[in-house]
Amino acid sequence: MSNAEIGVIGLAVMGANLALNIAENGYKVAVFNRTYARTEEFMKSAGDLVDQLVPCKTLEEFVNAIRPPRPVIIMVKAGGPVDMQMEALKPLMSDNDIIIDAGNANFRDTLRREDEMKDTGLTFIGMGVSGGEEGARHGPSIMVGGKQSSYPRVQGVLEAISAKYKDTPCAAWLGENGAGHFVKTIHNGIEYADMQMIAEVYGIMRDRLKMEPKAISDVFAKWNEGPLESYLISITAEVLKAIDPKTDTPMINLILDAAGQKGTGRWSAIEALNMGVPATAIEAAVAARSLSAAKGERLHAEGVLGLPASTDVADPEKFIADLELALLAGKIAAYAQGFAVMSAASKEFDWGLPMPTIAKIWRAGCIIQSRFLDEISTAFSKDPDVANLVITPAFSKLLGECDGPLRHIVSESVLNGSPVPALASAVSYFDTYRRGQGTANLIQGQRDFFGAHGFKRLDEEGDHHGPWGS
Ligand code: 6PG
Repeated sequence: MSNAEIGVIGLAVMGANLALNIAENGYKVAVFNRTYARTEEFMKSAGDLVDQLVPCKTLEEFVNAIRPPRPVIIMVKAGGPVDMQMEALKPLMSDNDIIIDAGNANFRDTLRREDEMKDTGLTFIGMGVSGGEEGARHGPSIMVGGKQSSYPRVQGVLEAISAKYKDTPCAAWLGENGAGHFVKTIHNGIEYADMQMIAEVYGIMRDRLKMEPKAISDVFAKWNEGPLESYLISITAEVLKAIDPKTDTPMINLILDAAGQKGTGRWSAIEALNMGVPATAIEAAVAARSLSAAKGERLHAEGVLGLPASTDVADPEKFIADLELALLAGKIAAYAQGFAVMSAASKEFDWGLPMPTIAKIWRAGCIIQSRFLDEISTAFSKDPDVANLVITPAFSKLLGECDGPLRHIVSESVLNGSPVPALASAVSYFDTYRRGQGTANLIQGQRDFFGAHGFKRLDEEGDHHGPWGS
């Protein structure tokens, strides 16, 4: 009875939704959960799709239910549980069977896991899945990494269950071993930066312009009809207009301002730092989440230091128009940095990451899906090897249009004490990146002064030292 096309292990929300999505797309799917009670519960909730599902009590039964070579998607908590599940599966599987880790794994774990499997005859796929619970159920963006020769066995199912952008599936094989999980990590890093910049703009409207949540929601809803059109902007409008049924007041005003983080944003920043690629918007977003979590300390600091004086905005309408463009400029920095990090990793790990394809499969299904990504995919398709998104013709032009508003908003915010760490990082990034003559000549002079580290001269070859102390 090896007639299931694929198997899913782990029937918590993400795994359950992925299994239902596969079933709905006409594929028979074997399912297994550590506790069978959960599998029974899942089957009860499957409605018409039960005929497409093969519930299994044991792992042996599960493996035998799948058509060889067997693809098995593991959707359990990232880290140790994935290793445990893989160890349990390995002895039951046969040559060319495929273990697919679809969780938010650290790509370094994926590299290790693939390495540990290399003499087993099995193959390993590290697969990034974005889109949250809804995406898993109705069409996520799927970033696949692993042996290319194993991809055709799963390509049909993955493309079928993925989101579609104008009929194009948002699923692709991106490179060997850790490529898929790395790209998913950077997706999340960009997600952090995007969310932080949106939150900064919300803060300015709330605290400086003294706008009520509903009015701010209306602004975001309007922006969602323009160049900022995206999933994150649309849910921001939704979150801001929601009313708490218990108190009949805006839900947003009752949510504690301390953000959680599971690690992917931080991993993005760490990997960027490891490779020496600036990802300042992502770093700022990670740092802002950490500071947000220190609620008690911030309240104490406000008591000790007070808030900076703030003036009224002379022309709120113009200010809001500039906020929209500032957000767009900030987005350019975040995405340019994210893609630059992927480009560096692609070289370091020899992945050959296809930048236009990555932008394409992020156009729908994932958390950062947006109109903007379609423009990025066009820019990279025209010039896949460009050093940085900001110097492509389309984005240099766009930046020219929103650079002024970004400066206006950041400088105004600094003068009036509105925190804009991610937007401010974008201004500094652009200004440092675009300046051919920087100031590191002085840093080199200092390094040579205190440590005899040497420097290059503009007028001569070789390493040189300065005439310090002579
Ligand atoms: C996605 C999300 C998803 C999840 C993150 C959030 O692409 O579907 O990014 O992966 O929401 O785990 O991460 P934090 O808890 O770190 O915000």
